[in-house]
Amino acid sequence: MNSEEKKIILKTEGLTKHYGGVKALHDADFTLADGEHVAIVGDNGAGKSTFIRQVTGVEIPTSGKIYFDGNLVNFKTPADAKKAGIEAVYQNLALADDLDVPSNIFLGQEETYFNLGPFSFLNENKMFKQSIDVLAKTGIKIPDIKITMNNMSGGQRQCVAISRSAGFASKLIIMDEPTAALGVQETKQVEKIIRSLKENGVPLIMISHNLRQVFNLVEKIWVFRQGQIVGCVETSKTDGNEIVSLITGVKQGVGEEASFI
Ligand SMILES: Nc1ncnc2c1ncn2[C@@H]1O[C@H](COP(=O)(O)OP(=O)(O)O)[C@@H](O)[C@H]1O
Ligand SMILES: [Mg+2]
Repeated sequence: MNSEEKKIILKTEGLTKHYGGVKALHDADFTLADGEHVAIVGDNGAGKSTFIRQVTGVEIPTSGKIYFDGNLVNFKTPADAKKAGIEAVYQNLALADDLDVPSNIFLGQEETYFNLGPFSFLNENKMFKQSIDVLAKTGIKIPDIKITMNNMSGGQRQCVAISRSAGFASKLIIMDEPTAALGVQETKQVEKIIRSLKENGVPLIMISHNLRQVFNLVEKIWVFRQGQIVGCVETSKTDGNEIVSLITGVKQGVGEEASFI
């Protein structure tokens, strides 16, 4: 498959974020084709999360441009990015502990009978049925979706969070360290969802420290170092050594200078 032939869903040009004197992200040119699954890797403090925060409207860039789905965008809030079709799953799960699965899946976008501002009436039956559909789509098995989040394992919780993102008509899903806090089985479950997103043609950006996971799941790897993008390589044309060299800036044996951009 040649990603160059596909429509570009996300493009950043010179994306920069400075916090006072800290150049957290500098001059990032990034491109993602529709349906493409990529990873962003880099050491702690490399600027990965900062990049994601600019793209998802959590913060406003110091300078640079973001194009999404063919339009120049200026997201002011996460809600703006969400409205445009960007769904984000963070390491720190934004789930409501004392609510059940349907309420969490529909958090902030509850199905209503009548949408009259404060007088909205929740259509709980419809939400329940749709939650079952959403979970089935992602292959997640939760025995009883009426139990509340605080009675679930970390893996089940993460799966609900991802289902929430994947279940809606999103044009791009971004995951920041989706399995960092999960066990082996739970990680497998999340990886299964990621594969089903790929099959469904939903593009994905995943930040991960787990190179095994990166090599198994994505077709392209973007490497960040000290606030800059220092490499973009196709997974099939690279190996762990080259990625570690790019991450650290220190060559590990034979490396190709051409991989640096
Ligand atoms: N809100 C902030 N204020 C000041 N410095 C920040 C802030 N957020 C991140 N940084 C700094 O920006 C750099 C990049 O951080 P971050 O994007 O979190 O890295 P990563 O996600 O790759 O670990 C780090 O040096 C970090 O300390
Ligand atoms: Mg981070």
